[in-house]
Amino acid sequence: MKTVVALISGRGSNLEAILEAGLPVRIAAVISNNPQAPGLAIARAHGVPTAALDHRRFPDRETFDQALAEQIDRHRPDLVVLAGFMRILTDTFVNRYRGRMINIHPSLLPAYPGLDTHAEVLRDGVKIHGCTVHFVTPKVDHGPIIVQAAVPVRSGDSEATLAARVLEQEHRILPRAIRWFAEGRLAVGEDGVVNLIGQGLSQGQLISPWDDET
Ligand code: GRF
Repeated sequence: MKTVVALISGRGSNLEAILEAGLPVRIAAVISNNPQAPGLAIARAHGVPTAALDHRRFPDRETFDQALAEQIDRHRPDLVVLAGFMRILTDTFVNRYRGRMINIHPSLLPAYPGLDTHAEVLRDGVKIHGCTVHFVTPKVDHGPIIVQAAVPVRSGDSEATLAARVLEQEHRILPRAIRWFAEGRLAVGEDGVVNLIGQGLSQGQLISPWDDET
């Protein structure tokens, strides 16, 4: 069974979705850069060991990332999951876990990388929004796309209503991506495109209100 370490910074709802999805993986540890992250209690409630590594106690990004890598590597994970981890990581750190670190991001990448995606989507009058799970590469919120879910942007939406609609889908696609990884079904081509082994072209890699395959 594959071993997973999850990194979080806050609420931990994506972590909870992973823990409750009955995935064929062992979640060896949950590590947070924020000792106050409510998600740490969620991990403990599921019997998963936790660690907190307060980034404010480190002099720079490099030192923090080095300590974080040491914590992670104790568990010898096959996969590192950024499940709402809100820190920019150094290239050295990212390269160490290349091909075995994934991130959930609340937009249809490559549109809207970075923070405040829901506010930007509303400001731009975009009609379709969503979320993405992708392999992590040094460029923030880029990297081979594993699975996406689309949601409509409705007139009258606030940042909160839109975020809630997207979050519901985050909770579907993150466990799905981890399952595929665990099953060895994710093939990243030379072109950086992820194909799902053993399934027709991209089937299941898109969740949308118009083409729901779950
Ligand atoms: C999610 O929207 C995730 O996509 C973003 O931060 C949020 C974390 O939420 N990166 P939670 O901690 O998983 O509840």
